[in-house]
Amino acid sequence: MTTSRLNGPTGQLNGKVAVITGAASGMGLATAQRFVAEGAAVVVADFNADAGEAVARELGDAARFVRCDVAIDGDVASAVALAVDAFGRLDIMFNNAGIGGAFGPITEIESDDWDATFAVLVRGVFLGTKHAARVLIAQGDGGVIINTASVAGQGGGGGPQAYSAAKAGVINLTETTAIELAPHAIRVNAICPGIIFTPLMHQGDEADAERVMTELQPYPKRGEGADIAGAALWLAGPDSAFVTGTSITVDGGISAAGTRLFGRLHGTTKLDRIAGIAHGTTGQKPTIRRLD
Ligand SMILES: NC(=O)c1ccc[n+]([C@@H]2O[C@H](COP(=O)([O-])OP(=O)(O)OC[C@H]3O[C@@H](n4cnc5c(N)ncnc54)[C@H](O)[C@@H]3O)[C@@H](O)[C@H]2O)c1
Repeated sequence: MTTSRLNGPTGQLNGKVAVITGAASGMGLATAQRFVAEGAAVVVADFNADAGEAVARELGDAARFVRCDVAIDGDVASAVALAVDAFGRLDIMFNNAGIGGAFGPITEIESDDWDATFAVLVRGVFLGTKHAARVLIAQGDGGVIINTASVAGQGGGGGPQAYSAAKAGVINLTETTAIELAPHAIRVNAICPGIIFTPLMHQGDEADAERVMTELQPYPKRGEGADIAGAALWLAGPDSAFVTGTSITVDGGISAAGTRLFGRLHGTTKLDRIAGIAHGTTGQKPTIRRLD
């Protein structure tokens, strides 16, 4: 049992203790690295023991690894207990672990595959919230819960059926638990990432992922795990003290771009070369100014 914690160079989270699920890879890993750099102690909770142990070793005294399947109640309880045993308390729970889950035509998806998807993506967030909230409520001085949802949970087209439905569930669970835990000064928020270059997303083919990104994403930058870590840091820290029950979209503008209908109808494909005003069906003619 030790209570020693490291103070990072910038220290936005000095003295804080976090559990991060799925911290062996991708955005969970980036967040664990950032949180430790900001002075937090971190429990790296992941299904993948080899990768998780390596991450904890790299992070040093400020980290512990626990092998954890977020779908199993006892595993999640143990991950939270490790934070208290090793570092003396809990301040931040980041329910981030995820998988792509079931895919294929809706007529062909095995019900067990559907359930396994929801077990990781929704039950995992439920269990993380449950066990973290027990500790945070008992401590009596508030806390932060952050859930990784997805732009896929905000509408159709962003992911396969079970994944999208599960992430929509995470967004809603974030809202209901934020209301319930607010009297305890526990803030609950979700992050909805877009295309983030992690092994889960590019599956080893980064060039193909870049092609899709260039086609769909307005902002000219790759989304990286560090971008999610930055959002998580803000949600975990004092600058978001009045933010709860919301979802922060971190997607380079993909969801803002929405239907992509505008500019395609009525020969207006060259909208960057003309300006003016359309008066609808009033009978008035549009004014059009050519820009070239
Ligand atoms: N990468 C993207 O573009 C993207 C977009 C939107 C949402 N997300 C979500 O972000 C989260 C993190 O994904 P990532 O892209 O960093 O993926 P990743 O595969 O790089 O990392 C996910 C980690 O979760 C762990 N994990 C999987 N199932 C687990 C379980 N049952 N118990 C414990 N750990 C488990 C994996 O071992 C892995 O270390 C996921 O919830 C994912 O659905 C990702």
